[in-house]
Amino acid sequence: MKKQNLVITGGGSTYTIGMIMSLIEEKAQFPLKSITFYDTDGARQEQIAKACNVILREKYPELESFSWTTDKQEAYENADFVFVQIRTGGLAMREQDEKIPLQYGCVGQETCGPGGMAYGFRSIGDMIDVVNDIRHYAPDAWILNYTNPAAIVAEALRREFPDDHKILNICDMPAAIMVSYAKILGKEIWDLVPEYFGLNHFGWFTDIYDKEGNRLTDQIKRTITEDGFIPEDSEIVNDPSWIKTFKQVETMLNHFPEYLPNTYLQYYLYPSDMVEKEDISNTRARQVINGRQKRVHTMSDQIIADDSTENVELEVDIHGRYMIRVAASLAYNLGETYIVIVENNGIISNLQDDAMVEVPAALTSRGPKPFAVGEIQTFYKGMIEGQLAFEKLVVDAWFEQSYDKLMQALTLNRTIVDAPVAKKILDDLIEANKDYWPALYTEKKKKAQR
Ligand code: NAD
Ligand code: G6P
Ligand code: MN
Repeated sequence: MKKQNLVITGGGSTYTIGMIMSLIEEKAQFPLKSITFYDTDGARQEQIAKACNVILREKYPELESFSWTTDKQEAYENADFVFVQIRTGGLAMREQDEKIPLQYGCVGQETCGPGGMAYGFRSIGDMIDVVNDIRHYAPDAWILNYTNPAAIVAEALRREFPDDHKILNICDMPAAIMVSYAKILGKEIWDLVPEYFGLNHFGWFTDIYDKEGNRLTDQIKRTITEDGFIPEDSEIVNDPSWIKTFKQVETMLNHFPEYLPNTYLQYYLYPSDMVEKEDISNTRARQVINGRQKRVHTMSDQIIADDSTENVELEVDIHGRYMIRVAASLAYNLGETYIVIVENNGIISNLQDDAMVEVPAALTSRGPKPFAVGEIQTFYKGMIEGQLAFEKLVVDAWFEQSYDKLMQALTLNRTIVDAPVAKKILDDLIEANKDYWPALYTEKKKKAQR
């Protein structure tokens, strides 16, 4: 088995230590020669990297090299795989994305509705730069992106790099949900075979099978409606916000019993409940700053001070394991099936070809080979087409610097609907993001300038 050279872009992320633990857990599946961290914030990355250095020395002695850098060439030369996990504007800007819509009574969420639009508008430019940098030094490397909002980033990268077939966008949410299904069934997640369709953070499991072909969907539905649904993955199991979110799946399944929903549909199906549940002075970004980020940084300091991991509790999570299993299937042509984000091209036969959809695909060294979904029913088609139009308009707006298209996008979104509200939120977001967004022009202004 060829050993891989892996680069993690966004080495300073709160997910990096979990990823390193997952790489250690999965070393037989995805053996590594080297790991390199790249980040634009050298200090943030160094703290995490120094802790990872201790972890890797203890638990991955066969790794030939581990290093961290802010130099692109040093990072990307010789890379076989690059995992991209950046956050333009950091958690501070995430907090703005959440608070501003809430001030107008609309959902404030980092990947859904106006918050997702704002985050997408910050991410697109940086993600295009990251891909160009990687391609300059490593034209053949696989790029696994999970930078959010993945739906909008995937659409922007599809347009900017239409001929690059080694970029794959991935989300861990279907897998995190499947960890809870597996628990219900008394099985391992890797024993389950999902049937799923939708957009990123906007999809449904139509069925769950085991590897022997037994259909387990009804057992899962029955258990969820009778006994409830809770997160089981280590990263989210004790998190009150995720516990609430998984509980909402029970409600969704009562109102819409046909398929098993992605948790993110709660923001589109119950926007008023979601707004009501929020505390504007303690939105999710604040919880992450005081929760995961603090926990990760305290843990890093402890590991560095002790020069050992003996006094910390290190855990493997599905986020890291999932990305790594995806990478292994691509690297070693395993043809295993995972839910990933790909261009539709007829997979959902009654949806436009150029949509980026989230569906199961067999992952080979020639890329993802998605399975046909066929025709979807009116409710799902209507929901998806509205959301897809929003995502397309956001990306149009970015490339065209169009104020009007953002106005259209926000008004279309199920979390807003009301045009005057869309305008107020948009104007506030423009002000809050002036250091990050491209300038926007109305069509009227564009015409006057011509
Ligand atoms: P974070 O802010 O802790 O980490 C991001 C890191 O990226 C920081 O160290 C930052 O300095 C660095 N960075 C920012 N811009 C950069 C650039 N242009 N080039 C290189 N590095 C850059 O954020 P986090 O909460 O750990 O999340 C990281 C990313 O992973 C986010 O985009 C988040 O939404 C995403 N994520 C996605 C999924 C998924 O399912 N798709 C799951 C988990 C996390
Ligand atoms: C899930 C989603 C990710 C998202 C994350 C947010 O894993 O799939 O796309 O980034 O949740 O979690 P947080 O704890 O930062 O709110
Ligand atoms: Mn996701």
